[in-house]
Amino acid sequence: MVEEPNIVWHAPSITRAQREMLNGHHGCVIWFTGLSGCGKSTVANLVDNKLHGLGVHAVLLDGDNVRHGLNATPQLLSDGHGPEFAERFGLGFSAQDREENIRRIGAVAELFATDGIVTLTAFVSPYRRDRQAVRDRIESAGRTDDFIEVFVDAPLNVCEARDPKGLYKQARAGKIKGFTGIDDPYEPPKNPELHLDAAGQTPDELAEVVVAYLVAHEKIRG
Ligand code: ADX
Repeated sequence: MVEEPNIVWHAPSITRAQREMLNGHHGCVIWFTGLSGCGKSTVANLVDNKLHGLGVHAVLLDGDNVRHGLNATPQLLSDGHGPEFAERFGLGFSAQDREENIRRIGAVAELFATDGIVTLTAFVSPYRRDRQAVRDRIESAGRTDDFIEVFVDAPLNVCEARDPKGLYKQARAGKIKGFTGIDDPYEPPKNPELHLDAAGQTPDELAEVVVAYLVAHEKIRG
């Protein structure tokens, strides 16, 4: 690992174990991945609700929301920060911009998880390499079962028929370039902890599967 000699990591004064003791559950990252429209956000929100009901401290990082703030697009940043800043720090949908989007979310998720919080993320995260980099980081910062990859699997034709934001239609019409599944790749996980059938089961059923996994793996109490 490359070291930065001028910036020194401080161990926190309250340990993860102390925070988890207070919370009564363990921190972890539940990483939802899948095509736009597959149901990632819906399922993640339902899991968030169910966890809240169980008294679990959870946080949800959702692609569309995060891209309004922390990982704002160049267009959003240009208003207020100017074009040069927007060009430098704004994130679009090129492979490299997606890599940075996922890297930043991975770093934030690591902060939450190592503070004992159940961290739900819902990003397309189309590249295996980017997801693996987050997994490696989370697992080396905490425990080897801290990263739970959840493949929300709905075929492209199902996502396209749903088209909740009308984006597939625009991508087919050539108005959006590089849209995942249309003219940009999606690399499905080879070995996810959970593989959800998002075309055959309801979002509520899928959320129950995720909560049951957390109970079975002793991340939370049921
Ligand atoms: S990721 O690929 O970098 O993980 P992220 O999850 O943050 O993507 O954002 C995806 C959301 O942005 C989609 O649900 C969709 O609403 C919107 N979007 C806009 N342009 C694209 C695009 N070219 N490819 C995929 N999603 C896009």
